[in-house]
Amino acid sequence: MTLDNAEATEPRRDDSLYLSRDGSLYLSGNYAPVLEEVTAYDLSVDGKIPAELSGRLIRVGPNPIAPVDDPVNHNWLTGAGMLHGVRLRDGKAEWYRNRFVRGTDVQMALGEPAPPGPTRGYDAANNTHVLKIGKGTYALTEAGCLPMLLSYDLMTEARSDFGGTMGDAFTAHPRVDPLTGETHAITYTPSQEKVQYQVVTTEGRVRRIVDVPLPGHVMVHDMCLTQKYAVILDMPVTFSQLAAMSGDPLPLRWTPDHGCRVGLLPREGTAEDVVWCELPGTPFVFHTGNAYDAADGTVVMDVVRYESMYYTNSLSAFEDEARLYRWTADPATGKVTEQLLDDHAQEFPRYDDRVTGQDYRYSYTVTSDDVPKGFTGLLKYDVKRGTSERVDYGHGMLTMETVFVPSAGSSAEDDGWLMAYVHDATTERCDVVIRHAQDLANPVATIHLPTRVPFGFHGSWIAD
Ligand SMILES: [Fe+2]
Repeated sequence: MTLDNAEATEPRRDDSLYLSRDGSLYLSGNYAPVLEEVTAYDLSVDGKIPAELSGRLIRVGPNPIAPVDDPVNHNWLTGAGMLHGVRLRDGKAEWYRNRFVRGTDVQMALGEPAPPGPTRGYDAANNTHVLKIGKGTYALTEAGCLPMLLSYDLMTEARSDFGGTMGDAFTAHPRVDPLTGETHAITYTPSQEKVQYQVVTTEGRVRRIVDVPLPGHVMVHDMCLTQKYAVILDMPVTFSQLAAMSGDPLPLRWTPDHGCRVGLLPREGTAEDVVWCELPGTPFVFHTGNAYDAADGTVVMDVVRYESMYYTNSLSAFEDEARLYRWTADPATGKVTEQLLDDHAQEFPRYDDRVTGQDYRYSYTVTSDDVPKGFTGLLKYDVKRGTSERVDYGHGMLTMETVFVPSAGSSAEDDGWLMAYVHDATTERCDVVIRHAQDLANPVATIHLPTRVPFGFHGSWIAD
């Protein structure tokens, strides 16, 4: 079923946007790694940090620790993870820290002892997300990379397989059900034609593993969670054996013959209970927003949708523009209908995590008029009214994913703070910008970091 198009060679992208003078992709500009680990205290702030914010805003991205062997073909998705964290308390930005995640390559490069913990899986690329699972904070990546348990100061305390309970792998995009506190994950390894559904308890132990066969070696980056279902994304990006044999370190390929469907796995069901619902055509989704069960039995999923992905090779993930769509999966018909919600180019969807799996109203993404050059603005979309609000960060400013943090004492959706790391291309420094979600035009605080923060992937507010 899987079509292998590893031999396609002509990239569609305009490489001039990315190439540095030595021709290295994704190693120049603000993709370039930073090599120093920095600790800075009492950061300078314009405006006023809300005094109620007590915790850390942590994000992670790829940051190769050593010169890469083949800069021209370097893949942004690979490389050691570097964490960046800002700690807020009593209206002050107490510190900024950046720290490599101590995977094997970092530990060897730094001459440090290996962190304790299991040795199964691999640990060299924990660069995708930072999440609290159970009582621990972890750096996470998919495809067999072991979760790395982090200290408050962003040091790597241990490799983790959740006390020996983890299945074959974990993922960077599990979902926490706010009603139970349990973490739900759809996981995979490239060598297996299946995913696993894993449920992690509030004590950080996997209590349930369900194997679900797939017709191919599928890359499954994200998932959806509703009150009834864990939703499996079976999309047309697969691992190419041919490309792997030719030495491609990340042999992902666009395989439209694979088809595109979502699997509705009842949360306490088995693989036999999965209801597969086919998409019209073969779109691709890296990232889902929220999802919920509609009263008519359908499952509503808001997703950031691409027309294709990795058409010729896996060097660039975000070369094409994606848009916010609503997918409605009907288990009665086995079909998914698609509806364009918002026409802005956008990525990295977030929402108020307190409404995960429930009917909701607001989505927060990042947007740009020229995606390959970076994301310039924040986009808030009202799924009930079908309206959007956009605010740009200003000349030379490029934002990363926006994180929503609820206001203290309020349970109302959208009553909270939007926080993002924003790269200043003029000064080659980074700011953390805080706005109230209901007043996008007026940032309440801009925290100035002493260093550059390279473009990366995801992160979280970890409240104290
Ligand atoms: Fe992601």
